[in-house]
Amino acid sequence: MRRGLPADAFDGRPHIAIANTASDLTPCNAHLDEVARSVANGVYEAGGIPLDLPVVSLGETQVRPTAMLWRNMAAMATEEMLRANPIDGVVLLGGCDKTIPALLMAACSVDLPAVVVPGGPMLTGTFRGVPLGCGTDVWKLSEEVRAGTLSERAFLDSESSMIRSKGHCNTMGTASTMGLLAEVLGMTLPGIAGIPAADSRLLAASHATGVLAVDLVNRDHRPSAVLTRGSFHNAIVALAALGGSTNAVVHLLAIAGRAGIDLTLDDFDRIGAEVPLLVDLQPAGRFLMEDFHRAGGLHAVLAQVADRLDPAAITVTGRPLVEPLPAAQVWDAEVIRSRAEPLQPHAGIAVLRGNLAPDGAVIKPAAASPHLLRHRGPAVVFDSVEDLHARLDDPALDITADSVIVLRGCGPKGYPGMPEVANTPIPAKLLAEGVRDMVRICDGRMSGTAYGTVVLHVSPEAAADGPLSRVRTGDMIVLDVPARTLHVEADLDTRDPSPEFLAALARPKRGWERLYVDTVRQADTGADLDFLLGASGDKVPRESH
Ligand code: FES
Repeated sequence: MRRGLPADAFDGRPHIAIANTASDLTPCNAHLDEVARSVANGVYEAGGIPLDLPVVSLGETQVRPTAMLWRNMAAMATEEMLRANPIDGVVLLGGCDKTIPALLMAACSVDLPAVVVPGGPMLTGTFRGVPLGCGTDVWKLSEEVRAGTLSERAFLDSESSMIRSKGHCNTMGTASTMGLLAEVLGMTLPGIAGIPAADSRLLAASHATGVLAVDLVNRDHRPSAVLTRGSFHNAIVALAALGGSTNAVVHLLAIAGRAGIDLTLDDFDRIGAEVPLLVDLQPAGRFLMEDFHRAGGLHAVLAQVADRLDPAAITVTGRPLVEPLPAAQVWDAEVIRSRAEPLQPHAGIAVLRGNLAPDGAVIKPAAASPHLLRHRGPAVVFDSVEDLHARLDDPALDITADSVIVLRGCGPKGYPGMPEVANTPIPAKLLAEGVRDMVRICDGRMSGTAYGTVVLHVSPEAAADGPLSRVRTGDMIVLDVPARTLHVEADLDTRDPSPEFLAALARPKRGWERLYVDTVRQADTGADLDFLLGASGDKVPRESH
């Protein structure tokens, strides 16, 4: 917009901010300026005034040390700008992993009428005739480079073949998962999530979202009227049926914390464990988001598990989430399985507890190797990512396929920011022997596009004096996913944290990192800052002059 407005723009008609995370440094969201224009047209059509509001953008591939360090900052900055500016409602444009969670956290804390437009996934790219999944195949092919079975040149060619259109990662990674869950939570126009970024139907739906945003203001329909415990129940059911990213656990807990909903880590296991896995998408499966949309998309999946959804949960339209589901159909039963023939009868996120994770840890069984879900093996401990990189490929490292790789110092406080490093590489000498998966345990996260038998989000983290800080190389670790336990056969209470580990910890002296480390909560509650929980509403008490 950024142009002169006629005087009647200020006659009381709704002013709709378009909170836009477009940035050249966030390639997954770079097309959102085009989406914003369609939203703006819809706002005008409905009698409102659209106003650009650029907000903090977080590009997963560019931001260091990890975009997760800045999720809460993006949420806080967006919240404050939504409150501080004279607006009546907001359309939230996100895509790349942290952007939709941050925008939803902000919207909950301000509680102005709000609606999300998910930016949509990239189109499928192929390399040597084979479809490639963003992220997932990067991990796989980079292992092949390390194993010496793929050249660097071919690897670079594969990467550029993979990224052939605008949009975010096209696997069921964090961006796809959170875009879909934004709709399940009721915070989008029904039917919009999963439309590929390059599909003209996304612009049509964005236009309709602009119209809806004005209607939301006219009805004073706020996130607090949409988001209930039932909405989060439905999101957990959907997360399981979709085979969505483990990162959604942290993000949903954080959003619930802003919305004042009492959601716990155990809800994910309790609600999701019996839900069948219906979607055969990478990273655990075969297909990609373009296939998912072609096969019927989110509504086709929700229709299969409609009996497990809370029928009372509504969307921004004011109508029930489940209302359109009877009309949904599956058009490709290979991509979206029927309830009678699921990929797995029980999906979801398993929550593990034990003397290694008193407050919980998570694993995604669907992305793990079945033979490792019950495993006992000796720990090989790394005190930091740098320690891991320095020693993992050392031929002299005493490690076998039965070992358990323990990587600590990667939690919210420890890194800081809880990076996606938990799916550590397999040691080169084991790769050469054909080993492609091992049990790995970490207080950090794993990319939603990654896979493997990886125990994540161990809470409390090692840097918060969690038991992980006292484990030593050689300790026997016992993982039993069916029993939901994670133990180490050692008396950790008699030990002190390793001095090497304490020396490797990040101790930021100033700025955001200092504030973050001092106030961030643990992963089992969503890793938000302690003073950002809850909402403050949209009222500004004092004038500027
Ligand atoms: Fe942006 Fe994957 S890098 S969604």
